[in-house]
Amino acid sequence: MDPDWLEDAPLLRAWVDAQRRLAAGDLRAFTVPGHKHRRDLIGEVVTGDVPLYGGLAPIRDADALLRAAEQRTAERWGADWCRYSVGGSTHGNQAMTLAVGVPGDTVVVDRTCHRSLLLGLVLSGLRPAWVQPPIDDSTGLPLGITPATIADTLTSHPGARAVFVTSPSYVGTCADVAALSQVTRAAGVPLVVDAAWGAHLGSHPELPVHPFTAGADAVVTSAHKALSALNQGAVVLARTDLLDPGRLDRAMEATATTSPSGTILASVDGSLTLLAQRGGQLGGVLLDRVRRARDRLRDVPGVVVPDSTTLRGDFDDAKLVVLLAGTGADGIAVDREMANRGFILEMADRDLLIPMVTLADHDGAVAALAAALAETIEGHRGVPRGTVPHAAWTVAADQAMSPREAFFAAREPVPWGDAAGRVCAEVVAPYPPGVAVLAPGERITRGALDALRQARTEGARIAYAADPTLDTVLVVQA
Ligand SMILES: Cc1ncc(COP(=O)(O)O)c(C=O)c1O
Repeated sequence: MDPDWLEDAPLLRAWVDAQRRLAAGDLRAFTVPGHKHRRDLIGEVVTGDVPLYGGLAPIRDADALLRAAEQRTAERWGADWCRYSVGGSTHGNQAMTLAVGVPGDTVVVDRTCHRSLLLGLVLSGLRPAWVQPPIDDSTGLPLGITPATIADTLTSHPGARAVFVTSPSYVGTCADVAALSQVTRAAGVPLVVDAAWGAHLGSHPELPVHPFTAGADAVVTSAHKALSALNQGAVVLARTDLLDPGRLDRAMEATATTSPSGTILASVDGSLTLLAQRGGQLGGVLLDRVRRARDRLRDVPGVVVPDSTTLRGDFDDAKLVVLLAGTGADGIAVDREMANRGFILEMADRDLLIPMVTLADHDGAVAALAAALAETIEGHRGVPRGTVPHAAWTVAADQAMSPREAFFAAREPVPWGDAAGRVCAEVVAPYPPGVAVLAPGERITRGALDALRQARTEGARIAYAADPTLDTVLVVQA
C-alpha cells in the first residue's frame, strides 16, 4: 500500500500502526475487546480486530481522530456534516428518521424503501405518506421516483417534514435526485436519499451523479456494498441548512453502539479515501468489466440485461441485473447450480439474478461468472414467461395506523387465509431485496398474501415474519 495514500486516511493509518504495535508486543490492551488478540482461544477470527477507543487511539483522543477523518470526507464532498458508522445503512436510515420531525409528523417515503427505514418510522413515530416508483413495462423493474410524484405528495401533505427516497434501487435504477431536490427545496423540506448501493456513484462520468452532489440534503451509503469496506461499514453525509446538525448528532448517537469496531471504521475511511484518489480509474475499469459481462449474457437467447440505454431514466451501469423470464429458466434453480459451482450471487428469485460486481473484482473472475451464468441458464432453459414485477415493487399500501402504533399494539396470529382485511403487525419481506410486502399498520390485501405465498413456493427466503412458513400472519388484535 502506498504510504502517501495512507496519510489521507487517518483511521486506516491508525489501524496499521496499531497492528504494528500489537505485532511488536508494545500495545498491551486492558480494554475491550476481551479476546486480547489471543488466537489460541477462539482462533484466527479475532485477527485485526481493534476497537476505536483504546485501539486506534487512546480513549480520550479517539473521538478527535474519528472527527478528523469524517471532516476530510465531508470536505471531499462539500458536506457540512459527515459520520461514519459500524451499523450499516440500517443505522444511517434509522438515525435520519430520528433527525427530522417529532412523533406524529408526516414524512414522504417511497414504499420500496428498505425495511431499516420502515423500522426507523417505528422508532421515530413518523407517519408515512407513501409514494410509488413507476414500473418499467418491458422489464418489470421499478424506476426512480419522479419529481411530479413528490411535488403532488408534498402538495397533498403540506405539513410533511422530509422526503425519503431510495436511489439507486436494489436493481440499479436511479432517481433524478437533482430534479427531486429542486422540488423539495422549493417546499423547504429536506431530501434524504438512501443510497446504500450507490457509494461509487459519481466516481466516473458514465455513472449517475452521486446523490449528494446532485443536491440531496442527506445521503446514507453502505461503504461495504459498492466499496471495499468491511461488512457493516457505512457513511452519512448531510448539508445543514434544512437539517439541524445538533439533531443529526443526537440521532446518530442514539442508535449507535458505544463500542465501535476500529477495524470497520478504518476500512470505511480507507475505502472512501481510495474512492477519492482512484475512483475515476477504478470506476472506469469496473464499467468495462460489467459491460463485457453484459455482452456475454446478451448472447443467451431470451436473457435481458438492462442498462442505461435500454431503461428509461438513470441506471447504474456498474450493476449487473439478469432477467430470465424470456428464457423460461427458474432463477432459484440457476442460483443453486451457480452456488454448487462456487459462484454465490447477491440476489436470486425466479425471474431475476443479481451477481454483485464491484471495483474489487478481477476481469477474469467476472468473465468466468458470465460464462458460468450463460451456461447454467442454457441448462435450465424452459418455456418463456411474461414479465411480472416483483411483489415488493408494487405494494399499494393502505395505512390503517402508524407503523409505530402497529408495532406496539397487542397482536395475534391468524391463519393465512383469514388475514386479508386485517391490520398487519409485522414486517414480511422476500429477502433480498428486503422490501416489505407486508408492513406494520397496513391493511393486508389478498394480492400481497398471494404474492408472498408464490414467492415462497418459488423458493425465495421470506424474512422477518414470525412464521416464515406463512401458515399464519401476525395482525393487530381487533
Ligand atoms: C436500499 C437499502 N437500504 C439500506 C440497506 C441496509 O444496509 P446495511 O446492510 O448496510 O445495513 C439495504 C440492504 O440491503 C438496502 O438494500
